[in-house]
Amino acid sequence: MSKAPIYMDHHSTTPVDERVLATMLPYFVTRFGNAASRTHAHGKVAREAVELGRAQVAGLVGARPDELIFTSGATESDNLAILGVAQARRQDGRHIVTARTEHKAVLDSCVALEREGWRVTRLDVDAQGHICPDAVAEALTHETVLVTVMLANNEVGVVQDLAAIGALTAERDILFHCDAAQGLGYLPFSVDDMHIDLASFSAHKMYGPKGVGALYVRQSLQAHGIPAAQMHGGGHERGLRSGTLNVPGIVGFGAAAEIMRTEGREEAARLASLRDMLKDRLFDEIQEVRLNGAASPRHPGNLNLSFGYVDGARLLLDLCEAVSVSSGSACSSAEPGPSYVLEAMGVPKDWSAASIRFGLGRHTTAAEVRTVADTVIEVVRHLRERSPLWARRARGKPIDW
Ligand SMILES: Cc1ncc(COP(=O)(O)O)c(C=O)c1O
Repeated sequence: MSKAPIYMDHHSTTPVDERVLATMLPYFVTRFGNAASRTHAHGKVAREAVELGRAQVAGLVGARPDELIFTSGATESDNLAILGVAQARRQDGRHIVTARTEHKAVLDSCVALEREGWRVTRLDVDAQGHICPDAVAEALTHETVLVTVMLANNEVGVVQDLAAIGALTAERDILFHCDAAQGLGYLPFSVDDMHIDLASFSAHKMYGPKGVGALYVRQSLQAHGIPAAQMHGGGHERGLRSGTLNVPGIVGFGAAAEIMRTEGREEAARLASLRDMLKDRLFDEIQEVRLNGAASPRHPGNLNLSFGYVDGARLLLDLCEAVSVSSGSACSSAEPGPSYVLEAMGVPKDWSAASIRFGLGRHTTAAEVRTVADTVIEVVRHLRERSPLWARRARGKPIDW
């Protein structure tokens, strides 16, 4: 029987931590109550578990528990934040500022608003993937109601200067939303220090279950009916997100957040050192390889590399038996093609077409890193041996990319 591939795609999703699963299990069978049932003990048990989960997630991000709204994940949180703010504040202006490298959940929510007559500014990033805070300042007008910028990019791991952007929006009374699905717990993040008004989180990116997430909404906004609810019904989550709460999911999300709060920074240091080990080995052994995205600060588990003179699709295909990685564009895998993130960073098509996102995680070992490095080195070597372009390069003939 062949060995299972090594998993190095933790930006896509993470396994549920065994400790998290153990915490969740009773809430499927014995403690199965509906947290909204106010008249009996089963409901009370479920409600108390939900409130513990809320406090645990709040503790990770520097929020108050009543500032968190549970959702089905970061996609829903992004939609609720952007569409909900737009709906609630459309009398104040109809302009939103975001960046070209945001996740599709943000970009497509903005497209939906454009269809309703909103103006959207999509900021360029530099070659390292950074948004310049000055460019944010220049984009703001008296019509701007929301700026939305992510914490860490899901493809290239680049970390944005949220504190600088938040200072600009706070000065002008413009709301600031952050998609913090990636890197939460590993990277510094505080809603107060960064002047963040709304933030999206996802449990399955941090060793919790799939199908549960949260939106942080600053208390002063909630008091003014911002954002407007996008899901109507029983008035759950202070009327901001109706629907029976996913109690086991929320319990798991809370447990995962608590583990991240206590262990995240140490884990980040370990991951960054394994990631650098992988990078150094690949750079030592393979010519014509480039790092996509700034080296630092960066999501500690992220390594995004482009390999020259190889066919990207073939590279992924030849790797997949031994290692599960994605191409840069895999986060929107419903739409294959060159990564819009790499394109926004100005990475030439020939390079972006052969890019790989390595996503290291909690259970990644040094032995796995060595095996993955050996495999990539071998596959790239093999593909280049059959590449006419590589042969041409070896003969000293320049290639005009
Ligand atoms: C930055 C970012 N935002 C949002 C999402 C969507 O999260 P979810 O799967 O919880 O809907 C993802 C997941 O790919 C992501 O990486």
